[in-house]
Amino acid sequence: MYEAGFIGLMVFGWGKISKKMHLFATFNVAFSSMLSAMWILVANSWMQSPTGVHLENGLFLVDSWKDAILNPNFLTAFPHMAIASFEIGLFFVAGISAWMIYKKRPNAKMFMKTLTASLMALAVIAPLQVYMGDALGRTVAEHDPAALAAMEGHWHTYNADGTPNTSWNVIAWPNEAKGTNDFQIGIPHMLSLLEDHKWVSTVKGLEEFKPEDRPPVLLPFYAFRIMVAAGGLLMIIALWALYLKYRGQFTLEGLQRRPWFLRLVVFSAILPYIAIWTGWWTREVARQPWIVHGLMRTSEGVSQMSITAEIVWFVGFVVFDLLVWVGAWYFFAKVVRHGPDMQAEVVHQSENIPVGSLMTDKHESILIRPTA
Ligand code: HEM
Repeated sequence: MYEAGFIGLMVFGWGKISKKMHLFATFNVAFSSMLSAMWILVANSWMQSPTGVHLENGLFLVDSWKDAILNPNFLTAFPHMAIASFEIGLFFVAGISAWMIYKKRPNAKMFMKTLTASLMALAVIAPLQVYMGDALGRTVAEHDPAALAAMEGHWHTYNADGTPNTSWNVIAWPNEAKGTNDFQIGIPHMLSLLEDHKWVSTVKGLEEFKPEDRPPVLLPFYAFRIMVAAGGLLMIIALWALYLKYRGQFTLEGLQRRPWFLRLVVFSAILPYIAIWTGWWTREVARQPWIVHGLMRTSEGVSQMSITAEIVWFVGFVVFDLLVWVGAWYFFAKVVRHGPDMQAEVVHQSENIPVGSLMTDKHESILIRPTA
């Protein structure tokens, strides 16, 4: 209700409510979305590290709401998700701005502002995401070591000579039937450095868990690597922008002389989507076979619905979701291709240019008010 009400005001209120009220509505849309994300992550994280409860006659009874809500997984998973949302929004803005500049649209100068603001914010946010990802990895290692071992394709706690296996698999082909990797290319000591910040430490391999308590390995292993690669690339792009700014080359002319950089920023807009999908695939598959870690198996949480009802709901959900997705992208593409309305009524903030003036090159800091 809170979120939906303000979305209505934000989308349909422009020109009808005051600019301050519109800003207030926009802020509330962002704030309420964050609140929803927070409660979703509270529930999802509690299933990964179920603190503050005890199980009695098949029911989870809460002993401490504080411990249930602020469970260990939540404290790192929520910031990781929140930063992922900032990244997706900022790279979206950066990608569109870079496209307008790359295409040398007449309003390219105006898009330099949005490109600069988004990429400079990302120069802080993208590295922060890598830091939070590392912190979340260590939380998973502590509270669900089987999930971490699956994400890393890490089967054996010790090497054949009895020393701790500290190698991190850059790439491997996990073979779940054989309980090992068919091949692997690893970096010695890297796994201990990542999980324990130590040169040598013991990181539990999947062999420590009964086969029925092990998650699938292939999907989390590759999904995790795709997310990390996307996160690394996003960080490099943002830091590259910072470097260009530092060298005084982050100007309209400077960037138009570097079309490959602009193309890279346009391409970067899709990477946070890929990272978020693969992040959730990693998380949800690696926590199997548990729906509530160590307490309730996924097989015990199976719905009482009939198979037919399940299929109808599932197919319906997928079709509806795809329609919304395709519709939203069609709409976004149309708006972006069209660009800001150059014939729109404008209000200049400092010069008080009357409503109805046309935008010229000089009017860069204008607010565009759509005519319709
Ligand atoms: C490069 C560094 C990154 C590292 C080390 C990292 C690490 C992790 C880890 C350990 C998990 C938890 C998996 C589990 O619970 O089993 C995770 C989940 C996730 N990651 Fe990443 N990640 C990185 C980058 C990113 C980026 C760039 C995004 C999106 C823009 C992202 C989005 C997600 C999402 C949506 C989840 C599932 C929800 C959550 O756990 O918060 N990750 N990541």
